[in-house]
Amino acid sequence: MQKTILILGACGQIGTELTYELRNKYGSETVVASDIREGNDSLMASGPFELLDATNYEAIEDVVMHYEIDEVYLMAAMLSATAEKFPNRAWNLNMNSLFNVLNLAKEKKISKIFWPSSIAVFGPNTPKENTPQHAIMEPSTVYGISKQSGERWCEYYNKKYGVDVRSVRYPGLISWKTMPGGGTTDYAVEIYHEALEKGAYQCFLGKDTKLPMMYMDDAIRATMELMESPTEKIQVRSSYNLGSMSFTPQEMAESIQRHIPDFEITYEPDFRQTIADSWPSSIDDSLARKQWGWKPSFNLDQTTSEMLDNLKK
Ligand code: SER
Repeated sequence: MQKTILILGACGQIGTELTYELRNKYGSETVVASDIREGNDSLMASGPFELLDATNYEAIEDVVMHYEIDEVYLMAAMLSATAEKFPNRAWNLNMNSLFNVLNLAKEKKISKIFWPSSIAVFGPNTPKENTPQHAIMEPSTVYGISKQSGERWCEYYNKKYGVDVRSVRYPGLISWKTMPGGGTTDYAVEIYHEALEKGAYQCFLGKDTKLPMMYMDDAIRATMELMESPTEKIQVRSSYNLGSMSFTPQEMAESIQRHIPDFEITYEPDFRQTIADSWPSSIDDSLARKQWGWKPSFNLDQTTSEMLDNLKK
């Protein structure tokens, strides 16, 4: 039987591309996109859409019943930089939306959940290089606290109520179709836009700030592969470390200069530097590789080529 999918937060950076790919794979009509606002024209034209607030349980339940939804991808969230400015709103959105979908699954109204965690679950006391799956976490940001709590609740609902919830800790995500908003890793997307428009970029992180990053195609593939894996392979029910590449703003600038030799970068670190400094520099994702076969395919230079080619069009 064909499964039906609901995406909450379908108009964001990840949600948009996930919607396209899930529709490619399973058919437009079986994937319902939803968000608190409408998305871009091509997203809106690509299949069913519902205006939906992810913090409203009854509203989600109505849509789940109406479309007989089996799987929910919860992509609505407030990211790290914005969350520092609005701690209460961030906690409310990030936690209540998760409880809503976990409770729908507990009530057997849906059968599977994807919920993204982040490298932000780690904190200043975590080993920075090759950060293991299991390490001291102690996140020091509002966003990281919400993600770590979310991970604990996912595992709890799995162990206690048998909820099939699956998750990865995304690194910073680089994409050209939809801009990120309010994140600390957003520089790695803005830089390509400004390299093409202005030939220069002022970076809000220092030149040596090394962070784990990933090209969006890899992130979407990881998400879909995780969701398609047989249940018995998914032994981590909090969230899997997921790695691909790590680089500094300076290294990214050099990668761009191989295409745009005159490109100039300057550094003006702001409050986001403290957030970035609390996160890992690189990630050990061997459990994801071993348990469900994860393997990244884009490195920094391939990402740069893809970004510049697509943004030029
Ligand atoms: N990319 C996110 C952020 O910067 C982290 O998950 O907030």
